[in-house]
Amino acid sequence: MKSYKLKNENMVIIREARKEDASAYVDYLLQIGTETDFLTFGAGEMITSQHEQELMIESSAEADNRLLLLALVDNKIVGGVNFRGGVRPRVHHTGEVGITVLKEYWGLGIATELLMYLINWAKGSGIIRKINLRVRMDNHRAIDVYTRQGFLKEGVTTRDSFIDSVFYDSVCMGLQIN
Ligand SMILES: CC(C)(COP(=O)(O)OP(=O)(O)OC[C@H]1O[C@@H](n2cnc3c(N)ncnc32)[C@H](O)[C@@H]1OP(=O)(O)O)[C@@H](O)C(=O)NCCC(=O)NCCS
Repeated sequence: MKSYKLKNENMVIIREARKEDASAYVDYLLQIGTETDFLTFGAGEMITSQHEQELMIESSAEADNRLLLLALVDNKIVGGVNFRGGVRPRVHHTGEVGITVLKEYWGLGIATELLMYLINWAKGSGIIRKINLRVRMDNHRAIDVYTRQGFLKEGVTTRDSFIDSVFYDSVCMGLQIN
């Protein structure tokens, strides 16, 4: 858990998700789907239940190679990071991260703080040795956040998403944890 003052003077708390966050997290996912085309789901496409999210939060909390972090302002979820390590032994040390922030809170440093928290957790885990992600090639804001935290571009996945009849390529980025 960490709390600090945002650029706009709001206090933000970063902590691991708890089972009782499930309902608010469902609403959060629905909202971010309406706010950006840079995710793998759009408006109304993130169909998930409170029960599913409770299970997801619990399994994340129990696993030594998973982390679901929330950023909260006045008890409202305004951002999140979801890192999932691999299940089998050969991929247990590595995983993919997804990061989101409510549009109203963009540009306040929340994604950067969430990412720094994840990286510190990974370094302290003694387990995670690589963090991977995929980001749409034209998502300059996100690429900038990742690059500033040391992520390197490792390749390109073509036609990674298809939105309104247009294909978009993604950049694969990664951070080695040593
Ligand atoms: C990408 C995202 C997570 C960033 O969150 P955020 O909290 O606004 O990020 P931060 O405030 O920590 O940092 C944003 C930085 O990007 C920079 N930035 C903003 N627009 C930019 C642009 N068009 N090009 C390059 N850099 C840009 C800003 O300068 C800012 O840096 P600063 O700290 O010097 O102000 C957020 O915009 C988001 O949720 N987007 C929709 C979902 C998404 O794209 N997720 C990533 C999927 S891979």
